[in-house]
Amino acid sequence: MKTFKKVMAILMALALTVLTFASCGNTEKAPVEGADAPAVLRMGTNAAFPPYEYVEGEKIVGIDAEIAELLAEKLGMTLEITDMDFGGIISAVQNGIVDIGLAGMTVTDERLESVNFSESYATGIQVVIVPEDSDIKTPDDLNGKLIGVQEATTGDAYATDDFGEESVKRYTNGSTAVAALLNGSVDAVIIDNEPAKVFVEQTAGLKLLDTEYVVEDYAIAVAKDNTELLDKINTALAELKADGSIDKIIEKYIPAE
Ligand code: ARG
Repeated sequence: MKTFKKVMAILMALALTVLTFASCGNTEKAPVEGADAPAVLRMGTNAAFPPYEYVEGEKIVGIDAEIAELLAEKLGMTLEITDMDFGGIISAVQNGIVDIGLAGMTVTDERLESVNFSESYATGIQVVIVPEDSDIKTPDDLNGKLIGVQEATTGDAYATDDFGEESVKRYTNGSTAVAALLNGSVDAVIIDNEPAKVFVEQTAGLKLLDTEYVVEDYAIAVAKDNTELLDKINTALAELKADGSIDKIIEKYIPAE
C-alpha cells in the first residue's frame, strides 16, 4: 500500500502542470544566465487556495507567494513558483522538482515521514461549509452525509477517518468542491477557514458552521536531505516574524475584523 501511494505520488508530481508563473513583483520569468546570477528558489504550490495562493491575472499572489518572495530575497535568490495539484507537492519536494512546498500546508506526522517542515508561520483551522438551509448544525451531524474535500488535504484525511471512505468525495480544488456543494452533489465541504471564508463570501446561499473542526499549523516543506536550506529558511523566517513582515503580509490579505 505504501509503495503504491509513493508511485501514485510520483506519477502525480510528473503530471504536474508545468506552468511556471512569474512571482509577484517579479517580471523576470527566466533567471539571468551568468556566473553570478542569483540562484533560483523553486516553490511548488496549488494556487487555488485564497488568500494563501491564487492566480490574479498571470501571477500567483497571496500570503504564501509574498512570504516566499521575502524569503528568497533574504537568501539572495530569485523566486520561481510552479502551480501543481496539491497532492503532488510533497513528492515534488521529495524528488527535488521544487525546493520548497509552500501551500497553506499543514504539518502532519504522515508528511513528516517524507519531508521536513520549517517552523510554523500561520495557523489553519478546518471548518465546515454547508448550504444556508442545511440541517447540519455541528460536525457530528456529518455522519451519514456526503462530504466534499480537496484531494490529499488534511480535510480529506479527517473526513475519511471520522466518517468513512464512502462519505467522502474528492475534488482537485477547494473551489470545485464548493461548486459541488452548490449543485447538491455533496452535503458539506471540509476545508481550511480562510479559503472557506473567501468561498462563502463569493457565493450566495452558503454558510460556515461555528464549530472549529481541527486546528493546525502551516509550515514550509523542504526535502529531508536539504537541511542547509531548511536552516536558512528557519533563520530568515524568524527574522521576518521578528520585524513584523509576516504579520504585515497576513494583515494585508486577512484584514482584522
Ligand atoms: N491545510 C491543508 C493541508 O495541508 C490544505 C492545504 C491546501 N492548500 C492549497 N494550496 N491548496 O492539507
